[in-house]
Amino acid sequence: METASDLATRLTRASRKKFWDVYNAFTWPEALVEGMWMMPPELISLYGTPAWDSLDEAQRLRLSHFELGNFFSLVLQGERPLVQGLVDRLYSKKNSKEITEYLHHFVDEENKHMVMFGEFCHRYIGKVYPEKKISLPREYAKGEEEVAFFCKVMVVEELGDFYNITIEKDERIEPMTRELNRVHHIDEARHLAFGRLYLAELFERYRAGWSEEQLAGFRSWLVEYLRASWGDYYNPTVYRDAGLADGYELRQMALAHPATAAFRQRASAKLVSYFVKTGLLAEEPAL
Ligand SMILES: [Fe+2]
Ligand SMILES: [Fe+2]
Repeated sequence: METASDLATRLTRASRKKFWDVYNAFTWPEALVEGMWMMPPELISLYGTPAWDSLDEAQRLRLSHFELGNFFSLVLQGERPLVQGLVDRLYSKKNSKEITEYLHHFVDEENKHMVMFGEFCHRYIGKVYPEKKISLPREYAKGEEEVAFFCKVMVVEELGDFYNITIEKDERIEPMTRELNRVHHIDEARHLAFGRLYLAELFERYRAGWSEEQLAGFRSWLVEYLRASWGDYYNPTVYRDAGLADGYELRQMALAHPATAAFRQRASAKLVSYFVKTGLLAEEPAL
């Protein structure tokens, strides 16, 4: 069976073959094409709720603009700690030379993604939405911090990839917006392949040393982390920027609505089934 180290060798080769320059990859238009969707309606956080039904077409388009800005910002804000964590793990004695070699590409590609999302958001949205997550210090079982770090990576990358793929395929979407989603997905396919195998190996290595209580504690943290990550997709500032009143109430209403719960379940299906299959989660959580 292929190990994460073997896979890393293949992925390094692929990253070198597809090596790209973020500063010359795009011709940034003066403005985005007007009147087109930026986030497909079905992916907008209010979709399927009464609040969505009450919006006219112009309001929906405006909301799609800021929702896309929020999505790109979320990915960018997730990539910052990701790069930090990957850099910490370069040349670690726990990893093979091949893994360190691949982590260099992982870091390089994530850095480029931040540059491209940052440029897009500054040019067309007027800002990058700030990071919302706060991480509380806690006690870890042996290896738990390592496993938790790669779980966070999986969550940001798998959810992001679901959006990237859906947006990239959608012909209603503004072309520059589609292009960034397309470019991101190409690199992410490699990161996800690596992450899936590497995280499974890590968990396998450490879980034997955890008590039942520690395992249960870890699993409830993971469910909470997944829920908090979804919560970031319902941003009151986005609603305000789109000209909608009562942003916080809108967020609460949307998060509690069965239509959005069904969407989150569907959008996380691949990620959750991986967590269950590997034993990182005992069962599918309600999201
Ligand atoms: Fe990325
Ligand atoms: Fe990535």
